Amino acid sequence: MKSLFLKILLMRIHMRFFVFIMSLIATVFSLSVPYYQKEFLDGLLKNSVNISHEIIIFLLLIFGFSMLSQLSVFISKIFSYFEGSYIQKWLSHETYSKTLVLKADNPKKMSAGQALSVYATDVYTACTLIDDVIPNIISYILPILLAPVAIIIMTSINPMLIIVVILSILTLNCLMAIKQGKYFFHNKMFAAIRIGHVNEWLQNMRVIRMLGWTESLEKKIKYSRIKETNNRLAMVTNGSTMNSIGYSAPFFINIIAVFLLIKLEGNKISSGQIFSLLWIFGVLLTRPLRMLPIMLVSITDCYTSIKRVQNYWNQETEKDEVQMKNNNLENTNSEGCDLEIKNLSYKYEGKLLLDNISIVINKNEFVAIIGEVGSGKSLILQALLKIISSECENYKINNESTENMDLNKLRSYFSYVPQDIFIVNSNLRDNVAFEYDYQKNNDNEIIKCLEMSQFNFQTENIKLGLNTEIGERGVNLSGGQKQRVAIARACYANCPIILLDDCLSALDVNTEEKINESLLNGHWKNKTRILATHRLSILPKCDRVLFIKNGKIVENGKFYEIYERSNYVRDFVSTLSE
Ligand SMILES: Nc1ncnc2c1ncn2[C@@H]1O[C@H](COP(=O)(O)OP(=O)(O)OP(=O)(O)O)[C@@H](O)[C@H]1O
Ligand SMILES: [Mg+2]
Repeated sequence: MKSLFLKILLMRIHMRFFVFIMSLIATVFSLSVPYYQKEFLDGLLKNSVNISHEIIIFLLLIFGFSMLSQLSVFISKIFSYFEGSYIQKWLSHETYSKTLVLKADNPKKMSAGQALSVYATDVYTACTLIDDVIPNIISYILPILLAPVAIIIMTSINPMLIIVVILSILTLNCLMAIKQGKYFFHNKMFAAIRIGHVNEWLQNMRVIRMLGWTESLEKKIKYSRIKETNNRLAMVTNGSTMNSIGYSAPFFINIIAVFLLIKLEGNKISSGQIFSLLWIFGVLLTRPLRMLPIMLVSITDCYTSIKRVQNYWNQETEKDEVQMKNNNLENTNSEGCDLEIKNLSYKYEGKLLLDNISIVINKNEFVAIIGEVGSGKSLILQALLKIISSECENYKINNESTENMDLNKLRSYFSYVPQDIFIVNSNLRDNVAFEYDYQKNNDNEIIKCLEMSQFNFQTENIKLGLNTEIGERGVNLSGGQKQRVAIARACYANCPIILLDDCLSALDVNTEEKINESLLNGHWKNKTRILATHRLSILPKCDRVLFIKNGKIVENGKFYEIYERSNYVRDFVSTLSE
């Protein structure tokens, strides 16, 4: 991918050019002011009794050029802010779209907190390149470049010595700015790591407190804070030195300029010339000389942020891009489907996690997948959904190959209850229906699904019914309640194939039996069902059981059949019964 920094810089280049032209106009106007100031003062000193028309015109020109200069600065700033907002919108949209298609194993490489800091900090900093840093750099460089021209026009000083002094001071400050840029980079990195820790801490606060792990985790956060603080200290020291040099620069330059003027022009020197020279160095160039190095620090800051956004974008994505649209439920309300997958394999970092799996599942069959922890049960379900980039010879749904099937279409065949259930920070209704964007009154349907999932408002102490807020990540729900909300969600989605990943693990046998009667072997009788599970009690109620070992299917048949014929299965079952 081409450098994102350059892409942002060159995007809508005509607008950058426009900002440059406005800054140029502002600079020319502001440098015209001291010229007329000289004329005005010299004229006034020559004849302070009779004020001529010429002097009044000079005064009006001073006023007019000052105003025009400010107006040009204002226009350039307004356009820069518009451009900044445009870039922010584009970066946020791209980052969001990218997040939708990240591969399932991406979180292993970048924590949620780090990703959050890309969204919250880096996207914002990247935009300041366009709405603040570049316009400022232009508006600081132009006066420094054009001031010598103004000096030549107004006086007979050779500006070479002044230019050498200005350049030396700028070089010194720029070297310090490069150092400052490195401190900024480290600062951002440390902050992202700390946000990652804090995020982890916040997300698991309940458990951490219960286990008494607060102290060690707080120590981890504190340690990264100390590293960050030390870096910040060095950064502030370096920054203050830069500031001092920047502040005192105009003083030295003034002395040199006036010294040169007196030396070269001797008695011919006019008060207007001295005044204008002091005006240029003491007023017009003070801010550019002080701020230009700081802007160079900001540019490196923007560069690192943009680099971080680019690294985020460069993470591996799924082969097929998911389109950004709402759940495409074109397959709802239909009966189950046939599923066929041949020679499915999945390798991760050189390790074969799914090994030539071939499964045929008939329409409306209820199939359980069992096997030891880490044997690959969840991966099979994820491969069916194409969440992981597995390879296979053939994968058909209802005899239709999925090779070129749009991912949204493929996923619309499935209702999926993942092993890690997610709950959004909203009420029960939203968590079952996921229909924020339109006001469809489907409460009866939602309640029916919750009832079939054995989620009972009375016994669960859910006082406000569907309006009950269930909190961020379901902190107000028990593990079993969360599982039943997720089952109700799958029920509401009403897709032809139901994938359930260990969704009974937190339920008692009694509730499991009720869910079996109402849903698994009840309402879902005419759906294709695949359940990854460790629960022994449900297995006799399934049409077929697949036993998976080290990513390979080693047994396939009715539960009692495979139990009779396979030592593996008997050993495994004995571990479950224990
Ligand atoms: N998204 C992923 N990317 C890479 N490796 C993964 C991913 N998810 C799981 N794994 C690894 O693949 C192996 C199988 O994991 P899987 O989650 O399928 O096991 P499982 O049979 O569902 O186990 P459990 O009974 O604990 O749910 C494990 O070694 C795991 O570390
Ligand atoms: Mg699993």
